[in-house]
Amino acid sequence: SITHVILSGGVGSRLWPLSRKSRPKQYLDLFDGKSLFEMTVERNKAIADTLLVVGNVDNRHLSKAILDKTATSYVDIVESTPRNTAAAIAFAAFASEPDAVLIVTPSDHIIDGMEAYEAAIQEAIVKAREGFIVTFGIVPTKPETGYGYIERRGDQVISFREKPNQVTAADFIAKGDFLWNSGMFCFKASVFLEELALFHPEVYAKSKIAWEHSINGNLDLDLSLEIPSISIDYAVMERSKKIKVVSSSFGWSDLGSFEAVYDYLVSIGHPVDKNRNMAIGTPNYTAFIGVKDCIFVYTDTANLILQKEFSQDVKSLYGKLEREG
Ligand code: GDD
Ligand code: MG
Repeated sequence: SITHVILSGGVGSRLWPLSRKSRPKQYLDLFDGKSLFEMTVERNKAIADTLLVVGNVDNRHLSKAILDKTATSYVDIVESTPRNTAAAIAFAAFASEPDAVLIVTPSDHIIDGMEAYEAAIQEAIVKAREGFIVTFGIVPTKPETGYGYIERRGDQVISFREKPNQVTAADFIAKGDFLWNSGMFCFKASVFLEELALFHPEVYAKSKIAWEHSINGNLDLDLSLEIPSISIDYAVMERSKKIKVVSSSFGWSDLGSFEAVYDYLVSIGHPVDKNRNMAIGTPNYTAFIGVKDCIFVYTDTANLILQKEFSQDVKSLYGKLEREG
C-alpha cells in the first residue's frame, strides 16, 4: 500500500510575522483561498491510498478544518511538542505496515507541473520497493544555505550534506554534480526504521517508546521530550548508504524563507521597485529610499523590514521573541 505522510508540525519561523505560532504558514490562505496544506493533500490524493497527518496538538484543529471541508479521510498522529522530523517520520513508520511505501512530504511547498511530479513519485515508488530511501533532487540556482545538498552520479547518491555554509554551498554549485534536497522522501516504513535504528539508535528507541505509549495517535508530552530533536537529514540522510535520488523537473519552491518567497512572488509578477525592493502584505503604495533588495512585510500586529540576504536570520529573531514572550 502507499501512504502519503504529511509533516505539518513546523511553525515556519523564518516567515515571521506572516507565519505565526497560532497559524503557521502551511495554513495561511495564500493562493486562491487555498492553503499550502490543502494543496499538498490534493496533489497526493490520487497517488496514495492512505493519508497520515503528523502535526502538533496546537495545529490539529487547523488541519482538521481543511480535511473536513474537503471530506478527506485520514489518520491523525498528534505530537504534544515538536521533536523535529526524524521523530515525526518515525511515528508515521511505526503506525504503518512494514512493507507500506511512505511518501513523506512537507505541508508548505509550492509545486508546479503535476505530470512531472507524478512521474517523479512513480519512479521513487519503484526504488522504494527495492529497499532504497529516495530523495527528490532539484537543480540548484544559487548557493542557498537553508537546504540539503545531494552529490550524485545518475541516481546514485555519493554524499548528502545538510545546510552547508555559504562557501561550501558555492563550492558545491561550482562542482556541478549537486542537487538540492527538496525535503520529500519515499521509502518502505521498515527500511526507514532500520536505518534510523542504525544511525540514530537513541531517536529510534525513544520514538518507539513514545509511540507505544501513545493513545489513539496522541503522543505523551514527557515521553516526547525524551526524544532528541534532530531532523531526518542529519539523523539519516547524511549517513545512510541506501539513498537514491530522483532528479526532478517539476517547479519547486519551499517558500522557506523570505528570499524564497521573494523569488516566487517575482516569478508570478508581484511588483518590485527599481532597486528590487518589495512590499508584502499591504495594498498600500510603499516607498523605499536609499535601500536595495529590501523586503517590507506588513501584518495587523507586527511588521518586518528585512535586507533580503539576511533572510535566514528571521528564525533566530523568532526564537528570541518566543523566549521573551
Ligand atoms: N510533524 C512535525 N513535527 N513536522 C515537523 C516538525 C516536527 O517536529 N519539524 C518540522 N516539521 C515539518 C515542517 O512543517 C516542514 O513541513 C517539514 O517538516 C520540514 O521541516 P523544516 O523545518 O521546514 O526543514 P528545513 O526547511 O529546514 O529543511 C528541510 O527541507 C529543505 C527543503 O525545503 C531539509 O529536508 C532540507 O534538506 C531541504 O533542502
Ligand atoms: Mg522548510
